[in-house]
Amino acid sequence: MTISRRCFLSASALAVAASSFPTPAIFGVERDKKLRVALVGCGWWGTNILNAALSSKTVEPVALVDVDRRQLATELANVKDKTGLEPKTFGDFREMLEQMKPDIVINATPDHWHALITIAACNAGAHVYVEKPICHTINEGIAMVKTARETNRTVQVGTHRRVSPHNQAAMEFLKSGKLGKIGHVRAFVNYPGGIGKKTPDVPIPEGLDWDFWCGPAPLLPYNPRMHPKGFRQFMEFANGQISDWGIHWLDQVLWWSQEEQYPKSVASSGGRFVLEDNSTWPDTQHVVYQFDKFDLVWEHRLYSGNPPEKHNIGIYFYGTHGVLHLGWLDGWSYYPNGTHKEPTEHGEPKLDKPDDQNIANLWADFIESIREGRRPIADIENGHRSTTLALLAVLSLKLGRGFVWDGQNQTIPNDPEAVKLLARTYRTPWKYPM
Ligand SMILES: NC(=O)c1ccc[n+]([C@@H]2O[C@H](COP(=O)([O-])OP(=O)(O)OC[C@H]3O[C@@H](n4cnc5c(N)ncnc54)[C@H](O)[C@@H]3O)[C@@H](O)[C@H]2O)c1
Repeated sequence: MTISRRCFLSASALAVAASSFPTPAIFGVERDKKLRVALVGCGWWGTNILNAALSSKTVEPVALVDVDRRQLATELANVKDKTGLEPKTFGDFREMLEQMKPDIVINATPDHWHALITIAACNAGAHVYVEKPICHTINEGIAMVKTARETNRTVQVGTHRRVSPHNQAAMEFLKSGKLGKIGHVRAFVNYPGGIGKKTPDVPIPEGLDWDFWCGPAPLLPYNPRMHPKGFRQFMEFANGQISDWGIHWLDQVLWWSQEEQYPKSVASSGGRFVLEDNSTWPDTQHVVYQFDKFDLVWEHRLYSGNPPEKHNIGIYFYGTHGVLHLGWLDGWSYYPNGTHKEPTEHGEPKLDKPDDQNIANLWADFIESIREGRRPIADIENGHRSTTLALLAVLSLKLGRGFVWDGQNQTIPNDPEAVKLLARTYRTPWKYPM
């Protein structure tokens, strides 16, 4: 798929552009009609999203899907308690799509399931709110964007920092030019922690369809570190810290860089140097992305914080006038360089409980974008660009070398060894999306 750079208007520019056109008050959906929503993946984050959706009073919960009956039972009790309604429960998303024909699917499954479920939901006529990272290998992401466009469905990605008030304020500050010329950006997540210890495999718990849980990924022995929540630490199901936490920050860099949506080259180093548990993601990783007008460095450590530098998480934008730190719980801060006499500036975050996020704002935009027939703020194409950045870094680490990235054609030129890693073999009977 070839996509011109000009297609990649920033999300906010798209939103502004959309709102500056006279749109009909209703676009295929009556404004007051509650949309029928199905949640696929009733775990930690799926519950957070559905709770925000229910609080918005924009949806009626009609179905819950999970391959673990224990998760389903907990979520059903939660929904009944909040709404008095009893959505139908399913173990297989395909049966749910066929029987319920929901208007909206929330896809909060582990990463290795995002592509197939999103594509099936769009093909069944549903709009989709899919969690980040949007996929496990880059070609899945290409197929997801293609399907969203071909089916004309709205697909919002859970990168809620695009609607967080302090992130928006920091973007305005960056756009104002107060930093001067910016040539270098550094994004990072560094957590202090121990070395961990190995957890043995155990029999599959009652109520969990482990074969279905593994789905298109390899069928590994069940380990309680993997499910619930722990899949992100295993490379068969996810891609480590850079695609779990990192994608939020890489997404912010692409939001800032607007017209520059892909690097020309990528090189990563790192590995498992410290952790001794049975997870498989790199505990140390550094990546250099070369863009036309700046370079971007990613760094993470899973065992050591950043005490001399103060901030453990976020992005530094380095400009000729000063440095801006964009963070999470610590908001954003501007530190002028010694030669510049402007005052230090700071913006506090405004985050929602639980888990200090802004899902409610992102959900509101999702519903409005469906009603208005416009692209949402965290559109699938933005999510695909940001996920691609994370996955390119993992690809470089696997190859043990850097490579040139042709972002326009979304391929690695003249490098068959690297191109192979843009996809992966699915376990039968699942078919890799084209
Ligand atoms: N946007 C954010 O800030 C944010 C925060 C946390 C998690 N997430 C994302 O949300 C997703 C879910 O993470 P989590 O922490 O909630 O995990 P979790 O393990 O708590 O929940 C995932 C659920 O999906 C179920 N599942 C697995 N395969 C399924 C299938 N084929 N059909 C239906 N259900 C299936 C599991 O049984 C589990 O209940 C991940 O992609 C993660 O990256 C995003």
